[in-house]
Amino acid sequence: MFGPDIKKCLNVEDFRDAARRRAHKMVFDYIDGGSDDEKTLAQNTAAFDNYELLYKVLTGYDSPDTSTTLLGEKIDVPFILSPSAGNRLFHTDGERGPALAAHEVGTVYSLATLGSRTIEEIGALTEGPKWFQLYVWKDRGLVKEMLDRAKAAGFTAMFLTVDMPITGSRERDPKNGFTIPPKIGPKQIWEGMKAPWWVLDYLFRPAITYANLSTTTSAVSLNKFIEDQMDASFDWKDAEWLLGEWNGPSILKGVVRTDDAVRAEQTGFNAISISNHGGRQLDTSPAPISCIEPIREAVSDKTELIVDGGIRRGTDVLKALALGANAVSFARPYLYGLAAGGEAGAIRAVELIRDAIIRDMILLGVHSVKDIDRSFIRKK
Ligand SMILES: Cc1cc2nc3c(=O)[nH]c(=O)nc-3n(C[C@H](O)[C@H](O)[C@H](O)COP(=O)(O)O)c2cc1C
Repeated sequence: MFGPDIKKCLNVEDFRDAARRRAHKMVFDYIDGGSDDEKTLAQNTAAFDNYELLYKVLTGYDSPDTSTTLLGEKIDVPFILSPSAGNRLFHTDGERGPALAAHEVGTVYSLATLGSRTIEEIGALTEGPKWFQLYVWKDRGLVKEMLDRAKAAGFTAMFLTVDMPITGSRERDPKNGFTIPPKIGPKQIWEGMKAPWWVLDYLFRPAITYANLSTTTSAVSLNKFIEDQMDASFDWKDAEWLLGEWNGPSILKGVVRTDDAVRAEQTGFNAISISNHGGRQLDTSPAPISCIEPIREAVSDKTELIVDGGIRRGTDVLKALALGANAVSFARPYLYGLAAGGEAGAIRAVELIRDAIIRDMILLGVHSVKDIDRSFIRKK
């Protein structure tokens, strides 16, 4: 209701500006930032410029079919929403925003282990397909319990994130004095004066918790729990054990190497998310767009590839598909939307990408997602 006018946002960058205006600086930087020198963060988007799209003329296609299938499920657009933690920090609507946005465009929403709304609430929110993103804790009992809850709530696939054995050094956060939940000192008050709508939201809504770990313990003590429970010793053998526990469709998230992709396929994962966690983990790791071709060649056709990192435009999506991805995913585009305008902002941001894909498919001269092949792209 209050805050930037999201109707004026024409693209993801406009939503980013709007998010910067509405959200507290420490919160905007938590979404926007990356690790160390943010080289990977920058490269994730910049690397799309290394490719050009070669459009076809006189194809006579005016209503392209944007649908495709992932893990046997039909989705109306060639993207899904990547998981992201603690969405209620950005806007009180929290994970409801992107879950509704995914439903609106007919695609998969993936809820993070560290979500700030419960598995059960998000499971019941829409009829749409949902995946559950898993971090593995030292307490394997807790891991099993979460998987059982996800299954019972209708989540159909396990999205296992493996590029975070420990948390990357995201330097904007300590510089802003950022903790979860925020500790309010003079710096935060000063910045808060510039973000009144976010502050009102924060002060007058229920406290933010990692709702899937506990709905009663405050996030501050849970933060310590997370640091203690992150399991850097988790390996391929444990991944195999986890696949047995889940016993359903699975995606390994955070792969950039061909040998890891092959091992994931051999271990039994149905899909691979080529991702570097949005440039938030190992800095100077490669842009996902540059990893698609070698991984596509290394694994069999039955292993589906989802590319994530730096997708901002419809043309970015088409480039990834042309290089061999089955679909893409993204987080910041809907997070900027959420931070700028809650549920409505998240929905609008996702719709903008959907609309851009339709427009760009007509311009590219393709009728269907399945028509987009290597002939439509060249490296500069
Ligand atoms: C604020 C934020 C929180 C995130 N939290 C998680 C998470 O809890 N689990 C996870 O697997 N990935 C998480 N990610 C990474 C995203 O799933 C995704 O890989 C990445 O953001 C893609 O890059 P993009 O933001 O440029 O689209 C997070 C990303 C952001 C920006």
